[in-house]
Amino acid sequence: MASLFDPLQLGSLTLPNRIVMAPMTRSRADEAGVPTDLMATYYGQRAGAGLIISEATYVSPDAKGYSRIPGLHTAAQVAGWKKVTDAVHAKGGRIFAQIFHCGRVCVPVLLPAGVEPVAPSAIAINGKNYTDAGPVDFVVPRELAIVEIPSIVNDFATAAQNAIAAGFDGVELHAASGYLVHQFLDGSINKRGDAYGGSVSNRCRFALEIIEAMIGAIGRERIGIKISPRIKFNDVADPDAGDVYPYLTSQLSAKGIAYLHGAKQGDYGVHEAVRPLFQGAYFAGAGFDQASGEAMVASGKADAIVYGKRFISNPDLPARFASGAALADDNAKTHYSKGAEGYTDYPAA
Ligand SMILES: Cc1cc2nc3c(=O)[nH]c(=O)nc-3n(C[C@H](O)[C@H](O)[C@H](O)COP(=O)(O)O)c2cc1C
Repeated sequence: MASLFDPLQLGSLTLPNRIVMAPMTRSRADEAGVPTDLMATYYGQRAGAGLIISEATYVSPDAKGYSRIPGLHTAAQVAGWKKVTDAVHAKGGRIFAQIFHCGRVCVPVLLPAGVEPVAPSAIAINGKNYTDAGPVDFVVPRELAIVEIPSIVNDFATAAQNAIAAGFDGVELHAASGYLVHQFLDGSINKRGDAYGGSVSNRCRFALEIIEAMIGAIGRERIGIKISPRIKFNDVADPDAGDVYPYLTSQLSAKGIAYLHGAKQGDYGVHEAVRPLFQGAYFAGAGFDQASGEAMVASGKADAIVYGKRFISNPDLPARFASGAALADDNAKTHYSKGAEGYTDYPAA
């Protein structure tokens, strides 16, 4: 019976435990998307995780959807990330980069002059995006022309290559949370009439082409992907999740990538639905505590458990699980603020 404290083989990487740190946007990069020294301290503090997955990182200037998030498309960003990966490796840890394109979550104030937000279809999100310039309404995105898609796919492959150059151990494609890849999967958001819309296989095409391009760039055993079917965020609906996600998983399994990361953040039993269809490692996330994570791994329903908020306020989470030390609560007010407060000032037990 496996435990959270057993090692897990992931391609050529050995995770010393099955306690994974979730990708979490913390907004401590600079305005140019360059990771800061403070970020190196933060991630280094959390190197006891079996694996760290970085915060979502944008693949091109046109893909940025929030203030002070990091990118992976300039030399300065790669150099900034190198300090982060060095800090994690120096403390014996392992770290993957999570890469994304925000699609219709982008707002013009965050994009280069003249660049419009893009999406599979011209349908806006209801509500506002919170930027350093204040709250701004989401806009109706421009529907991507089919001829534009290959260059976006290529941006992901280049970002994956940049991640390896920056010292990351691998790359997770962010296909969750209602960002561009998820926008293509969701039939309530994707109303295209071409090869990228309509049928389930057409809506999965964009995600699978990106994975194929990433495999070409860095190799299958350094790649993971995150999904969060029916998450209540960014107007995601996933009306036919029960058709889309099993199909997507079977296709991903055939590509032989290292892991599938499912976050159960909606009313769809993602873990039960996809785990049996995937031959690589399965990471289960969202809402787990130590006991429920142990039970999940012991039953074989997941190979590792992904912890989010608990890692914000407990940098030494695996050690606390092992010793039974009390857990500290995180402060949501400092999730996306500036500076060290609520970021690098949570002490180890
Ligand atoms: C502050 C914060 C930022 C997040 N940013 C991301 C992100 O960049 N990428 C992502 O895939 N999920 C993101 N998430 C979702 C987490 O990865 C995770 O799925 C979620 O917190 C549920 O897990 P938990 O119950 O263990 O916290 C974020 C969550 C929080 C709390």
